[in-house]
Amino acid sequence: MGKYSLKYLCVLMLLLLKTGSSAFADNGYKLWLEYNKVGNPQLAVAYRQQLSYVIFPAASDRLKAAKSELLTGLDEMLTLKPVDAKSIINGQTIIIGTPQLLKSFSIAVPDSIGGEGYLIKTTLIGQKKCILIAANSDVGVIYGVFNFLKLIQINQSISKLNISDHPRMMYRVLDHWDNLNRTVERGYAGSSIWNWHKLPGVIDQRYIDYARANASVGINGSVVNNVNADALILSPQYLLKVQALANVFRTYGIKIYLSVKFSSPVELGGLKTADPLDPAVKKWWTDKADEIYSYIPDFGGFLVKANSEGQPGPQSYGRTHADGANMLADALAPHHGIVMWRAFVYDNKVPDDRFKQAYNEFKPLDGKFKDNVIVQVKNGPIDFQPREPFHPLFGAMPNTPLMMEFQLTQEYLGFSTHLVYEAPLFAECLQSDTYTRGKGSTVARIIRGDFNKKLITGMAGVANIGADLNWCGHPFAQANWYAFGRTAWNSDQSPAVIADDWLRMTFTDDENFVSPVKKFMLQSRENTVNYMAPLGLHHIMGVSTHYGPGPWVDNAGRPDWNATYYHKADSAGIGFDRTATGSNALTQYAPEVKARWESLQTCPDEYLLWFHHLSWTYKMSSGRSLWDELVYHYYAGAESVKQMSRTWEKMEGKIDAERFSEVKQLMQVQLNEAITWRDACVLYFQTFSKMPIETTYPKSQHPLDYYRNTKFYYVPGIGGNNYMTN
Ligand code: GCU
Repeated sequence: MGKYSLKYLCVLMLLLLKTGSSAFADNGYKLWLEYNKVGNPQLAVAYRQQLSYVIFPAASDRLKAAKSELLTGLDEMLTLKPVDAKSIINGQTIIIGTPQLLKSFSIAVPDSIGGEGYLIKTTLIGQKKCILIAANSDVGVIYGVFNFLKLIQINQSISKLNISDHPRMMYRVLDHWDNLNRTVERGYAGSSIWNWHKLPGVIDQRYIDYARANASVGINGSVVNNVNADALILSPQYLLKVQALANVFRTYGIKIYLSVKFSSPVELGGLKTADPLDPAVKKWWTDKADEIYSYIPDFGGFLVKANSEGQPGPQSYGRTHADGANMLADALAPHHGIVMWRAFVYDNKVPDDRFKQAYNEFKPLDGKFKDNVIVQVKNGPIDFQPREPFHPLFGAMPNTPLMMEFQLTQEYLGFSTHLVYEAPLFAECLQSDTYTRGKGSTVARIIRGDFNKKLITGMAGVANIGADLNWCGHPFAQANWYAFGRTAWNSDQSPAVIADDWLRMTFTDDENFVSPVKKFMLQSRENTVNYMAPLGLHHIMGVSTHYGPGPWVDNAGRPDWNATYYHKADSAGIGFDRTATGSNALTQYAPEVKARWESLQTCPDEYLLWFHHLSWTYKMSSGRSLWDELVYHYYAGAESVKQMSRTWEKMEGKIDAERFSEVKQLMQVQLNEAITWRDACVLYFQTFSKMPIETTYPKSQHPLDYYRNTKFYYVPGIGGNNYMTN
């Protein structure tokens, strides 16, 4: 040992004692499965005592995975290695299993928790107190174990447990927009985690950790390739690679799905047509499905983007979306696979209002889809904007299963540079009342089949995952993956509870950290709406890359790609009139919703410019003019980022230095970009309003032309040599 080493070690020990684990570097790889040591000594003693013995015979791969997770978690959090037991030691045993094991202890597992649900309870078995985790299936045990570990992660008492839980939605799926060359469409966290070149030979530990993380929040499906699909994915060479991933996922109860290109029979099969009613085409898909299932017996099914943004589809042959979806559904049905058919469509004929197109095309098809087709609908009618009203298709197709599609990757919410916690966005949409089945028919109730029990149900999240060390690019973007799983499991869970759990599991249980940080997380999406697109503005970002402000964009490939198409600013005012005097898109909603949003007396400020074109001097409920209100929101948005970063600075020392510093730096970038959004938009809209910006506000550092002329090179998320020229 060198001269200074002992002294150095003593200082280090002192530092560690003082700051707990926070002196360690942490790159965020472990996500919310950090399994931090339980800091409270009494609690740790109580946990250890109650968990000294475990009865958990694990024969299947899934049960083995659950047991290994339990043992890892207990060891890491409590330095505890419970003794494998066969009988219960009063007050010191945890017993885990399915009916097969539990019947020998005379414990029945209720059917009501279903195939994927679980019980976690304190119970008496033969007068002996123990903790029971019970489920009807091995995957239910996995979910039970993760949720039990969560209780310790968030430092809850386990002495009087009585939890019964089950998923409210059947298909809880991540959609990866990952290309076979490892670029990720709209991905901001590095390249694709799927290393297609090395598959199937090399199973990266990441695939296992990905599956663990998903299972911990109940995600049970993964579409591994981009909706703008490459037909190659269905070639035998790639199916072998897909099979290797499926084998990893299966252990954690996750099914694999593929995005398929509708023209695959032509591109891959050499047929002359992909017409869904052509017998040779049907046969090609039937054979292909049989082949896939020979590799992957529990294959989940297909996700299809058809006749949208240049993708081929049934309409190319004069057929409907239902014809196309049903043909694929028939091929998958014998194997119990499903088709997730996307309603994100807008074709080459530019409609009078892009808002209306999905509804116009899909509503007439209600009831015409096979039982194993679910129509996947984005949360809003345009495209994952910072704020959108709920999609009018929700509630409009009572005889068709509709799958919610949220976007976790922050294509329109600041990429992986801006801290935006999306659970409030999910909740806002899910709790919206469609009124299509009377008051209280919320989007959540529609998609979970409350009004039509026969329908299959599901929720999809466009993944924000990449090969970055911390998976999601921004340490806080992990919260969106986590929150998606929790919301898909139970859409009534509050964003605050989810954030609270996530913070404690990911960082620390220190209330002085959790409370202020949770507060700004809950506010963060609104902040971003404010500095990007307040009062119902939408689609005013840079063209194509969707990076930075671009309200001036007016020369894109088609009118409805232009920002000017959406904000319609002119000397008279701003906003898209979707009332009867405009595009009349509001008629796509139930009368109650239409009435609320079409009247200026009742339309909330948040949606105002989604539905109304108003004069710059229009008097808002705040008493300000519309112009002043707009400026106020832009400035408040940027200011809130400053406040958030001040709060964050106070968190130094409460968590590890590495993630602290990363977030601190990201917040500075976010602030700069928020100011850019603010100044660029305010200056641009001022060219129409010709009204002043209050002198108390800081002046823009640059003239409008500076923002208009700045080019950004190699913006992530679109691959290739793209740069924006807005
Ligand atoms: C958006 C996004 C595209 C994506 C498309 C989709 O338009 O910018 O990259 O392909 O949505 O959802 O299909």
